[in-house]
Amino acid sequence: MRAVTWHGRHDVRVDSVPDPEIVNPRDAIIRITSTAICGSDLHLYDGYIPGMRAGDILGHENMGEVVELGPKSSLKKGQKVVIPFTVSCGDCFFCKKQQFSACDNSNPAETADASEIMMGHAMGGAFGYAHLTGGYAGGQAEYLRVPYSDVGPIVIPDGVEDDQVLFLSDILPTGWQAAENAEIEDGDTVAIWGCGPVGLFAIQSAFILGAHRVIAIDHYPSRLALAKQMGAEILDYREVDVRAALKEMTGGIGPDAVIDCVGMESHGLAIDNIVDTVKAHTFLGTERPHALRQAILACRKGGRVSIPGVYGGFADKFPLGQMMEKGLTIRQGQTHVQKYSDQLLQMVVDGDIDTTFLISHHASLEEAPAMYRHWHDDQNEYTKIVLKPDLPKGDIQTSKTFEEELA
Ligand SMILES: NC(=O)c1ccc[n+]([C@@H]2O[C@H](COP(=O)([O-])OP(=O)(O)OC[C@H]3O[C@@H](n4cnc5c(N)ncnc54)[C@H](O)[C@@H]3O)[C@@H](O)[C@H]2O)c1
Ligand SMILES: [Zn+2]
Ligand SMILES: [Zn+2]
Repeated sequence: MRAVTWHGRHDVRVDSVPDPEIVNPRDAIIRITSTAICGSDLHLYDGYIPGMRAGDILGHENMGEVVELGPKSSLKKGQKVVIPFTVSCGDCFFCKKQQFSACDNSNPAETADASEIMMGHAMGGAFGYAHLTGGYAGGQAEYLRVPYSDVGPIVIPDGVEDDQVLFLSDILPTGWQAAENAEIEDGDTVAIWGCGPVGLFAIQSAFILGAHRVIAIDHYPSRLALAKQMGAEILDYREVDVRAALKEMTGGIGPDAVIDCVGMESHGLAIDNIVDTVKAHTFLGTERPHALRQAILACRKGGRVSIPGVYGGFADKFPLGQMMEKGLTIRQGQTHVQKYSDQLLQMVVDGDIDTTFLISHHASLEEAPAMYRHWHDDQNEYTKIVLKPDLPKGDIQTSKTFEEELA
């Protein structure tokens, strides 16, 4: 089959690789119909996540049609399913607590050991996301093997289009969990750093969960425009002093909750960020947590800090004393996708949550190298890319509604 493979920093290719096979009775194989490129894939593309090997198949936002089943799968051939990015057994101590991204069974021994040395405990498995999380092949390919297919996949009702539900695999529950972790109370003001897909879904979720005001921060005009359309007040961090603006907008108090939807690759020319960038480029560090530092300093006393943005290791100049002295609550983590599947699917089907507004491009699998470049370099024009193995080579479709929306 054809598959999108990682070969090093800024080197993504489309290769012919062996088709996946059933290796465990609980497995299923799906034929991929849609698979998205995520902000998390940029951390792999930029070479910041340890444990990638040349030839690894990328892709953790996947959906498709069930084509093959192990004897213990509960799926049926022909079903349309969305696959959570977290590979979770459903049976362990953590899965039973609905902490699916902490699954203790899905990371095989040899990779779990390295992950335990680095993190203190072995991380759960994830599709297409390095050998520290199990080395599972991703779904930016024609086919995908899905382990534990009796607990993870979300079966999609007839008549629902791929674009409506694909993001149940990751970014929609991630935005939702981010808002839930912000412990929003009615009337709260919530500030959200980053208006990428995760930030935009966090904005939508924050309003649903009772936020009175959402203030969204980024610098790409198109992403800020989408945030504004969703009802957020917006700040371009190149034009204003973000902390001063937030203070002024909240009567000197600061936002009740802050959400970091940026993660380890913060942009901007702030001094701390320049130092972090030099360190990252000389392999003296991995994190560029400028947005998170700013969020912690901006948050009101006794407020909440939610961190869906991905970090990979140790951070310098972290405002620990500020967190302590201000009495902030911090919640974070890889998303427990399966915990939210039923609730969010229902909200999508009922029309309470729209996900399709986000997609700027559909492209054939063969266009993946160019699409990764655009996703990295042209974030203003590319708000979300969906790869479709069924599209003929060379096919790239720019979403009309997206162009119209921004006209
Ligand atoms: N916790 C999880 O399970 C989970 C799941 C999916 C994604 N993520 C992470 O969430 C983060 C966002 O994902 P995404 O797909 O939206 O990524 P993205 O790269 O599309 O969006 C990030 C946005 O942050 C903005 N940004 C950069 N520096 C900023 C700054 N200093 N201030 C304000 N905004 C700034 C960028 O302009 C960009 O629009 C990433 O770190 C990703 O790895 C986490
Ligand atoms: Zn993702
Ligand atoms: Zn488990």
